[in-house]
Amino acid sequence: MVDPKQVPTVKFNNGVEVPVIGLGTWQAPRDGSLYRSVRTAIECGYRHFDCALVYRNEEETGRAINDAIKDGLVTREELFIVSKVWITYLKRDRVMDCVKKILEKFQTPYLDLALIHWPMCFAQVDDTLFPTDADGKIIGGDVDYIEAYQGLEDCVKAGLVRSIGISNFTSAQVDRLVKAVTIVPVTNQVEAHPYLNQNKLRKFCEERGITLTAYSPLGNPGSVDSNPPDRGCLLKDPVILRLAQKYGKNAGQILLKFQTDRNIIVVPKSVNPDRIKSNIQIFDFKLTDEELQELESLDRNYRSNLFEITRDLPNHPFDPSIDF
Ligand SMILES: NC(=O)c1ccc[n+]([C@@H]2O[C@H](COP(=O)([O-])OP(=O)(O)OC[C@H]3O[C@@H](n4cnc5c(N)ncnc54)[C@H](OP(=O)(O)O)[C@@H]3O)[C@@H](O)[C@H]2O)c1
Repeated sequence: MVDPKQVPTVKFNNGVEVPVIGLGTWQAPRDGSLYRSVRTAIECGYRHFDCALVYRNEEETGRAINDAIKDGLVTREELFIVSKVWITYLKRDRVMDCVKKILEKFQTPYLDLALIHWPMCFAQVDDTLFPTDADGKIIGGDVDYIEAYQGLEDCVKAGLVRSIGISNFTSAQVDRLVKAVTIVPVTNQVEAHPYLNQNKLRKFCEERGITLTAYSPLGNPGSVDSNPPDRGCLLKDPVILRLAQKYGKNAGQILLKFQTDRNIIVVPKSVNPDRIKSNIQIFDFKLTDEELQELESLDRNYRSNLFEITRDLPNHPFDPSIDF
């Protein structure tokens, strides 16, 4: 149990402060374990939850949160709920529909933060999340992410969302967006860990008042999809294990501390009570500047999440030869 008041915050460009660590929820099963995880997380001191329409488990997260509120463990105002608009809802009016759908699932009156999940676009048809043609191939769409972001600006004006941001945007996409919109995004949520340190993108975003949020901070070792076969390698890296031994911590705690010591928000996912507890117990030690540099030097452009089925769509962000 960590006192939530002892969890550092990161300040956004609009003055809002977010707890530097939140619980990730992607691939958390909807069989009651996510409900228990959210309750455990609240008891352990988490106040920040990272969700998305496409995770298809927001009802369970919302139920756990609302029950914790009813039981007097926490108030809605003490919580920071993040969700993401899926890329079948990027047309300006569909963005608000998507946010309303999310609020309905959560049974909550507002989101603390809403993100555009990816810069690519799928066909904008009904409620299908992965529209495919007769051959099973994804059908792309042509809505510009700037239009989608303007839809999020509408949601702020309508009081449905307090802060807005982006996810998986490259530097060129960030640059184009900030020049076209009125509300500067508060964060860009991207994959980050020592094998993908994101230093260039972080600096680029910070220069524009945009924080970085690290997803898959542990390299998503337990993913059920078929991306890189060397998942889990980060947790076994000798440098990380050496630091874990030095500080009497585990590898996961070193990986999370690597982000929070660099003022990067981090959203590790776990449905295991021991790991939920240990992942937030990282505020009683500090990595030295040399150790942070050593961890950054492990960068090898490793991505655990390639989202291959969208590789051929316009605006797909993972081509390091073009952009960072
Ligand atoms: N914006 C985006 O496009 C995007 C993409 C990916 C992820 N995300 C967000 O970021 C969150 C975190 O990323 P992620 O879920 O991809 O990966 P992650 O947090 O790096 O890793 C999660 C995996 O690590 C295991 N784990 C958790 N704590 C551990 C520890 N201390 N030691 C060893 N293993 C541990 C979990 O298993 P157990 O559950 O069994 O503990 C789970 O299999 C997501 O849940 C989601 O909210 C966003």
